[in-house]
Amino acid sequence: MGYRILAIETSCDETAAAVVADRRVESNIIASQFVHQQWGGIVPELASRAHVEQIWSVVRIALDDAAATCDRLDAVACTTQPGLGGSLLVGANFAKGFALRYRLPCVPVHHLEGHLLSGFLAVPNLPLPAIVLVASGGHTLLCVLETTERYRVLGSTRDDAAGEAFDKTATLLGLAYPGGPAIECLARQGIPTVRFPRPLLDREGYEFSFSGLKTAVRRYLAEHPIENERQRADLAASVQEAIVDVLVRKTIRAATEYDVEAIVIAGGVAANARLQERMRAAATQIGASVIVPDREYVLDNAAMIGLVAHLKLELHGTDRYRRFDFVVDPTPWRMYRHGTAKNARYDAMVFSL
Ligand SMILES: Nc1ncnc2c1ncn2[C@@H]1O[C@H](COP(=O)(O)OP(=O)(O)OP(=O)(O)O)[C@@H](O)[C@H]1O
Ligand SMILES: [Mg+2]
Repeated sequence: MGYRILAIETSCDETAAAVVADRRVESNIIASQFVHQQWGGIVPELASRAHVEQIWSVVRIALDDAAATCDRLDAVACTTQPGLGGSLLVGANFAKGFALRYRLPCVPVHHLEGHLLSGFLAVPNLPLPAIVLVASGGHTLLCVLETTERYRVLGSTRDDAAGEAFDKTATLLGLAYPGGPAIECLARQGIPTVRFPRPLLDREGYEFSFSGLKTAVRRYLAEHPIENERQRADLAASVQEAIVDVLVRKTIRAATEYDVEAIVIAGGVAANARLQERMRAAATQIGASVIVPDREYVLDNAAMIGLVAHLKLELHGTDRYRRFDFVVDPTPWRMYRHGTAKNARYDAMVFSL
């Protein structure tokens, strides 16, 4: 059965709403919060306030764009974890209130499952199993998507996420937040002249570690202060190459081991053109294709939340989502929740929607 869903995403600093029907996106509205730029990072209290101010207008535009009236919706969905507690609460409470008013079920969605399954927004009949790399501001996860509703986590980061590594090193290089786009832009004018470390690359398994990169950049800058823009661009290119190299080589190793036809890259870092270019070149060598959702589905968006809600409704029906008994959980996905870095049992880390 097809469902028409109003989805809401407010886990971080975008207020987003979308209408998704039968796995197709009818509208996708994203209001970014620029108030954080002057602080060099996200200020949680300002984020919650901006969500409160924007959410109703964003939802109205999403409904208008889809020509959807409230009485023609089948469900509401919202991100409930992980993210900023206050921001999650704004979206989840709005969704619950809206669902109660229109007597609709309300589906809680894990933000990372949104990123993980966003490949279906690009290729509805994605060949499975597929390897999915989720590289975002708070997470780096490498997964095998076994079926539309079942995935196995092969590895995650021990410390900083890939996006976080871009953001933190960008600050060291004197660039504005968010650092990923700033580094990518500057790197186009530079050459990767410095070889920064590629941690855990030669180790077995699929764990990542990016916190050493910012230390290496800080040490390098202490010995070689930036004297001109050419040097800054070369350092940006060197940082980008170090992060991209690790992401590409681990992902390709997983694609080879699991013998998949398709590799999906998702999360904000997937917007990086150098990552896409190198992943495509390496995938060609092993006969796999690389799928990158459109930019509006790669960065935080509500369409991916609506898609996951749709899959959950197809699997479980609507009754379990009429209880409204879910709560928000800001805790980031970390492997130590499933075991410490040394004894994390990835074999057992199979999740179902
Ligand atoms: N072109 C780019 N190159 C590299 N990194 C980028 C690019 N564009 C965005 N990013 C990075 O992506 C991150 C934001 O992605 P996203 O919005 O998916 O993360 P998030 O939602 O904050 O974190 P999470 O999804 O883990 O909760 C930031 O760290 C940003 O620097
Ligand atoms: Mg995200």
